[in-house]
Amino acid sequence: MHPVVAIDGPSGAGKGTVARAVAHELGWPYVDTGAMYRAVAWRARDAGLSLEARDEERVAAVALNAAIEVGGERVAIDGHDVTGAIRTPEIDDAAARVARLPRVRAALVARQRQYAAVGPVVMEGRDIGTVVFPGAAVKVYLDASPAARAARRSTDPAHGLSRAGAIDVVADALAARDHLDRTRRASPLRRAPDATVLDTTGLQIESVVARVLEIVRACLGRG
Ligand code: DC
Repeated sequence: MHPVVAIDGPSGAGKGTVARAVAHELGWPYVDTGAMYRAVAWRARDAGLSLEARDEERVAAVALNAAIEVGGERVAIDGHDVTGAIRTPEIDDAAARVARLPRVRAALVARQRQYAAVGPVVMEGRDIGTVVFPGAAVKVYLDASPAARAARRSTDPAHGLSRAGAIDVVADALAARDHLDRTRRASPLRRAPDATVLDTTGLQIESVVARVLEIVRACLGRG
């Protein structure tokens, strides 16, 4: 297995921006595993599947067989460009639901592991350091106060500026998704015991990126 930088944490902690910048600095590919769950949720809804346990087998077949492209600027599934379509409140909810299904998780985890068979990778998600790559060379857990996370999410252009300003609404939705993510039976969001925790509340993204790069260099024994 090639070296993996695993970046986990709740939504709005800055994972996406930080992981992307760290990958850029290292010259490694970046994989947004949340986008994989989102794309599967989008495709399952598009196919009229239920996101509850009764259609688990069929949603898992999507997770296993669909052509999923993440990592670049765009996200696509089976040839549909879903870059914008997966960042809506409906897909926020749908993705959290499919992420509860153990067979869907098993299919996506297997696909995520394949990236490190090809080369080094920076991977971002909820269970990268705990389940996908428990032996990752570097594990970082990013967190932030609920208010800071809601503020970030409500001004995130990727999530639609239409929601900017409605911080209360975003904060409530984040709290509900956190609850789903932390209480699910299959791989709940939790910090790996050997992860370095960084609280990004009030920090500029650049300083978080610099800190993560220091950790990466220390762990990989470079410069
Ligand atoms: O990071 P995000 O908001 O794009 O993630 C979308 C959903 O997928 C969210 O409910 C958490 C879930 N997820 C997960 O369960 N495991 C991952 N590795 C990544 C995301």
